[in-house]
Amino acid sequence: MSYSVGIGLTNACNLACAHCYRPTERIDYVPLEQIQAICESLPVGSMGMGTGENILHPQFEAIVRYLHGRGVKLSIASNGHSIMTMSDELLAMFNDLELSIDYPTAEQQDALRGPGNWDLVHRAIERCHAAGKSVSILATLMCTNYHLMDRMVELARSLGAHLRVNVYQAVRTDAFRLTYEQFWEAYQRLFSAGKVVSCSEPIVRAAMGLPDVASPCGHNSIRFDMRGRIIPCVYWPVVEHEPYTIADLPGRGESVLEHPFFADARTIPSTAAACPCQGGCASRRAINGRLDDHDEYCPWARGETIDLAWEAAPAVDLVRSRNVCTTIVA
Ligand SMILES: C[S@@+](CC[C@H](N)C(=O)[O-])C[C@H]1O[C@@H](n2cnc3c(N)ncnc32)[C@H](O)[C@@H]1O
Ligand code: SF4
Ligand code: SF4
Repeated sequence: MSYSVGIGLTNACNLACAHCYRPTERIDYVPLEQIQAICESLPVGSMGMGTGENILHPQFEAIVRYLHGRGVKLSIASNGHSIMTMSDELLAMFNDLELSIDYPTAEQQDALRGPGNWDLVHRAIERCHAAGKSVSILATLMCTNYHLMDRMVELARSLGAHLRVNVYQAVRTDAFRLTYEQFWEAYQRLFSAGKVVSCSEPIVRAAMGLPDVASPCGHNSIRFDMRGRIIPCVYWPVVEHEPYTIADLPGRGESVLEHPFFADARTIPSTAAACPCQGGCASRRAINGRLDDHDEYCPWARGETIDLAWEAAPAVDLVRSRNVCTTIVA
């Protein structure tokens, strides 16, 4: 088995979005030698780059060349800056390119991300298409845009891109947290406007009536943060235990997944053992300090059911559909 690895090469960024989970107290970079240590200690099948704007890592080019040379499938999420700045040669080394757009209008997008961002991401999409690369739009589902999800599908369609939606996680502020009603209205809007390529968001999978509700976290998905810490999910609150780091990998290899964080991410809460949600998202429960509970968006714990009509799109192979819990619509 190979692992889908998520990594933040750095938390440095040229923007300062209010909803962002990235820590800003200090800036860190994962050096090339540590990327090599990861690949030499684990069977890495794919690597998705996120957390900050990865091109701001001084060794970005050397790292991309190294990973590409090893045959690791690469994806990157960007606010437009990395994709517009890297060379054509480097761009060609990525399998999936993702541009973050959270709103369907320039005014709303620039209000969150800063003036000129709407234009920048659109230029980046054009550049990717001109290079023959497929593009996904990456949207964070928040209480400020849940009612716009059908319009986001239309936008993605007009740009010839898939739409990948991640649920906002209240890592640093509650200001963007969705209510239960907003969460489900968003998915109803999303699925009424687009066909589903893949959905690994556990609670939504359960409502769709799909099997394998368990999320990838704690199993075949591993996340490395910009300080080299090994965590089951990018949103995991690193408070209770000291995590393993890349320095621990050479001696331990895959046994790093025995760390309590990974065990916690895998554990089905006793209260939800008989529930279709199977606990849903472990990070959401951990952030809320309720690891042994149902997902806060669980309808069954409220004695409700969700009517979620959806249609499947033809299958496509996208790196990110495997290494994080996410919903991709066409
Ligand atoms: C952290 S950014 C890093 C890559 C790049 N700077 C960008 O904005 O795409 C990756 C994605 O995470 C999203 N994101 C940021 N904070 C989040 C949060 N608290 N919960 C869920 N997604 C979040 C961003 O909107 C973006 O789509
Ligand atoms: S551009 Fe990305 S990394 Fe930078 S602040 Fe915004 S969401 Fe966070
Ligand atoms: S289900 Fe939650 S903890 Fe697991 S990968 Fe998804 S967001 Fe992270």
